[in-house]
Amino acid sequence: MEFKTSSDTISSISTDGIIVAYYEDSNSLSFDDAIKEIISLGDFTGKFKQKLMLYNVSGVTSKRVLLVGLGKKEEVDHEKIRVMASLGSRALRDLGVKNIAIEALNGDAMSTAEGVILGLYRFDELKTMDLDKLKTVDQITFVGNDEKAWNKGINVATGENHARRLAELPSNYATPTYVAEHAAELLKEFDNTKVEIHDEKWARKRKMGSFLSVTEGTDRPAKFLEMRYNGGEEGDKPLVLVGKGITFDTGGISLKPSAGMGNMRGDMGGAAAVIGAMYAIAANKLKVNVIGLTPLAENMPSSKATNPSDVVTASNGKTIQVDNTDAEGRLILADALVYAEEFKPHTVIDLATLTGAMMVALGNVYIGAFSRSDDLWKEIDNAGINTNQKFWRMPLDKSYRKQLKTPLADLNNVGGRAGGSCTAAIFLGEFIELERWAHLDIAGVAWTTSVEDYQPKGMTGKPVRALANLAENYSK
Ligand code: BES
Ligand code: MN
Ligand code: ZN
Repeated sequence: MEFKTSSDTISSISTDGIIVAYYEDSNSLSFDDAIKEIISLGDFTGKFKQKLMLYNVSGVTSKRVLLVGLGKKEEVDHEKIRVMASLGSRALRDLGVKNIAIEALNGDAMSTAEGVILGLYRFDELKTMDLDKLKTVDQITFVGNDEKAWNKGINVATGENHARRLAELPSNYATPTYVAEHAAELLKEFDNTKVEIHDEKWARKRKMGSFLSVTEGTDRPAKFLEMRYNGGEEGDKPLVLVGKGITFDTGGISLKPSAGMGNMRGDMGGAAAVIGAMYAIAANKLKVNVIGLTPLAENMPSSKATNPSDVVTASNGKTIQVDNTDAEGRLILADALVYAEEFKPHTVIDLATLTGAMMVALGNVYIGAFSRSDDLWKEIDNAGINTNQKFWRMPLDKSYRKQLKTPLADLNNVGGRAGGSCTAAIFLGEFIELERWAHLDIAGVAWTTSVEDYQPKGMTGKPVRALANLAENYSK
């Protein structure tokens, strides 16, 4: 799929179909006459989510005009624009249209581009005989003068699609090695980026015994991916993003039940979102220094795997009793957070599909956010509101710490059923001292089981847009 921007007018451009906004009130289309009758019959009123296809519209060069309803002009917001840009472009694609042009709906180029690109995304690269593949849009032209805003939306949505794809790819494709090398490949085209792929030897030298304990059971080598983007001034303290990268979570010796286990290919959704965000941030040339860290490993049972009650030592010297090998996310993040702090960051944010309990608490709507810093929480909350990838603050309270007490070591890696997401967050807090640290538990939102407005069934890539927005907020 090729994206173009054009400063032609939408009526003069020649494509197989154009998408134009229509309101319930206040319209001023050049071809208003063509639809007077349809409007007066009441078949189409411009209500949000309505669509109307017109053919042979005089004064319009393209073959088809798809009007998309945005509702009342006063009530239009970014999300409605994303939704209609998606539903409009999908409708044309489903007709087999190859070449689409769209105007900046309600003048909002960024949200329009996001809606189109996120809405048309499909994971079909592993299918060789899929008829849907024939219905693929080849070219989209974004029409209007706001080139900068178009590109912003294109880059952020493309970053989110990269995250979706990486999370969706099954574990025999998306091994730790593949994920790391692919991230390096994606960032190669941008200025000011540097990627290092560390191996297990490097991790051993740094005494990352907690991270390494998770990879004992698999023959696929673990990797520790370090991505740097220096868009800010030299010496500006960086924002560090840390993503959980379990390429498959069987649970290890504490084996998961088989039903639905395949979704655990998406247990690197945190890492995927960090990679997607790095892409978006670098592509948009934000004036900020950002480091992305993702420990990548596969959690497998075997004769060499960690056993329940084994004790491991993290890189800050703390000992951990691994009572449940299925609580592996916090083990790989522990060493990653210790490492993150070495960069003297102004902010550290980790993202992880960490606990099933998070899914139970907030469902697939809100991301749980834990932070010691009220300021950082407010910044994250705002980024969520700006992008409609919403966060809900969860308690990071020392009172949960006692659930992690254990006879054999400094702390246990599990704290019982009660407050499972809160004890996981407190566990992570043992490995980072920085006040401006936040832990985002994305377990509930990492995938969906139904098609949504601009989200196909499957891995969501959330919250790349929110992270990009947050980084923009720090950009000078
Ligand atoms: N990756 C899972 C968490 C998860 C579960 C994410 C469902 C998305 C959907 C994590 O590694 C895990 O297994 N967590 C355990 C922790 C428990 C053993 C304390 C869980 O939530 O059951
Ligand atoms: Mn697990
Ligand atoms: Zn996991």
